[in-house]
Amino acid sequence: MGWAGPGAAGSLVGMSERSRNLPRRSCLSVPGSSEKMLGKAPGLGADMVFLDLEDSVAPLEKEAAREKVVAAINGQDWGETVLCVRVNAWDTQWTYRDVIHVVEGCSERLDELMLPKVQSAAEVQALDMLLTQIEETTGRKSRVGIEAQIETARGLINVDEICAASDRLETIIFGPADFAASTEMPVLTGGVQVPEYPGDHFHYVFARILMAGRANGLQVIDGPYLKIRELDALRDYAMRTRILGYDGKWSLHPDQVKVINEVYTPTQEQFDKAWDILEAYRQATDDDRKGAVMFGDEMIDEASRKMATKFLTRGERAGMSRSSE
Ligand code: GLV
Ligand code: MG
Repeated sequence: MGWAGPGAAGSLVGMSERSRNLPRRSCLSVPGSSEKMLGKAPGLGADMVFLDLEDSVAPLEKEAAREKVVAAINGQDWGETVLCVRVNAWDTQWTYRDVIHVVEGCSERLDELMLPKVQSAAEVQALDMLLTQIEETTGRKSRVGIEAQIETARGLINVDEICAASDRLETIIFGPADFAASTEMPVLTGGVQVPEYPGDHFHYVFARILMAGRANGLQVIDGPYLKIRELDALRDYAMRTRILGYDGKWSLHPDQVKVINEVYTPTQEQFDKAWDILEAYRQATDDDRKGAVMFGDEMIDEASRKMATKFLTRGERAGMSRSSE
């Protein structure tokens, strides 16, 4: 069962939920040490942006980056974008000051923190407790959500308990580059297809994380594709996690955002079909009192309604509507 720590229901701090159900098709990574990139990030069309204090920031820049990230969050207009800061992992010296500096310094516009290299539920719970203290001390009205990255063998083994560790969790994310290092896969480029492998070398990992995330009501996000100039190959590779059911994928470059938004949005044809299934099924069950009917040459029933609802939710989240017939 989920852990009910001090931040759980009943605490003084109300649940914000602003970002929990917002789309996260494209999740743009922005190095927190680069004022130039931080300045450009709001206008790039990403559903979610995370300002990074972890692996895209050099150790000697880690401390200065905290203030740059706070200034960017407070000083820029981010529209509806889900706004996140990735702090350093608990096995470094930086995590607690990252969290305190960023959450105390940022306005309520900060939606969530991302915790990398999560290996156990306790790591999420430690972050939850620290956040609860900061929120109570500063009087923050909305709760800070948590995104957790699975990028080690130990993290994958514990993914079920990690996904159930806190009600602040909004997403679970796969980190293919660190994961390849952790499992000693002989690859030198993160998150790309390995042609020598007959099939998809990450299939088990993708499916494992998806089950744990869905069983706990989280959005499930695929990680980066490091060949940033190869947009067609990105499209192909992203389609794998889209087809499995993932909500979105990281973008490392503005050019990747457009491709990723497209891949994780239903096509108009799919959206319209889902709409029509729902309408046909509503008629069948409400007007004709039937639980299974023909829709064209397919049989539809309650499970079809559930599948169609997922398309509709995803499409509406992306701003789609039924095209006129
Ligand atoms: C992302 O953080 C990765 O390691 O792939
Ligand atoms: Mg990583």
